Amino acid sequence: MTRTHRIAPSILSADFARLGEEVRAVEAAGADLIHFDVMDNHYVPNLTVGPLVCQAVRPHVKIPIDVHLMVSPVDPVVDDFARAGADLISFHPEATQHVDRTLQLIRDRGCRAGLVFNPATPLDWLDHVMDRLDMILLMSVNPGFGGQQFIPSALPKLRAVRERIDAHVAAGGQPIWLEIDGGVKVDNIADIARAGADTFVAGSAVFGARDPDGGYRGIFERLRAALDAA
Ligand code: DX5
Ligand code: ZN
Repeated sequence: MTRTHRIAPSILSADFARLGEEVRAVEAAGADLIHFDVMDNHYVPNLTVGPLVCQAVRPHVKIPIDVHLMVSPVDPVVDDFARAGADLISFHPEATQHVDRTLQLIRDRGCRAGLVFNPATPLDWLDHVMDRLDMILLMSVNPGFGGQQFIPSALPKLRAVRERIDAHVAAGGQPIWLEIDGGVKVDNIADIARAGADTFVAGSAVFGARDPDGGYRGIFERLRAALDAA
């Protein structure tokens, strides 16, 4: 089956001192989204960036900013990211008190809403919220750091979510993107696509492969070629 494939470079592996230039370069190379990893040193053992940096990045690119919140609590930062120009906001269900309320809050602020599943988080959280989701994000590493190895159990989990999404859409439901995050490389992206993902976060694979001219066209060509072969 042909499906649209979106590539979302994660800024986590970018050169933070030259972030504007980095996001412009990946957009020029064909990025579909900017994946923006927010970590709070509480929900995950790392500390990254907040809404001020999102706001600073926003004018540098036209493509959507895909904010991945690895923070707890979630609700207090939703407004700030919406105002900072986030297009999608995803959060981990166990990091908020009221999942349904948080999804609604994100959509009320004009953003698309996503739910994120760690490798060991059960899919039951999807049971009552499919109609309120724009994206499901499966983690294929434990959240907190870039450059980790892809956890193979993410593949059967992707297939299970793909079935749920297809059944939901076949029954008249809204489209839902299926994003994968962690350890995505040129040599495994085709298998991941075949398992059902349509949106691929790639941090170290992209930002670790800068072309001699400072751009990223080479790695995008290799990722797209692998996806085309899937
Ligand atoms: C991990 C982050 C990922 C990470 C992906 O907690 O959510 O987005 O940056 O990095 P790579 O592609 O290097 O695994
Ligand atoms: Zn992420």
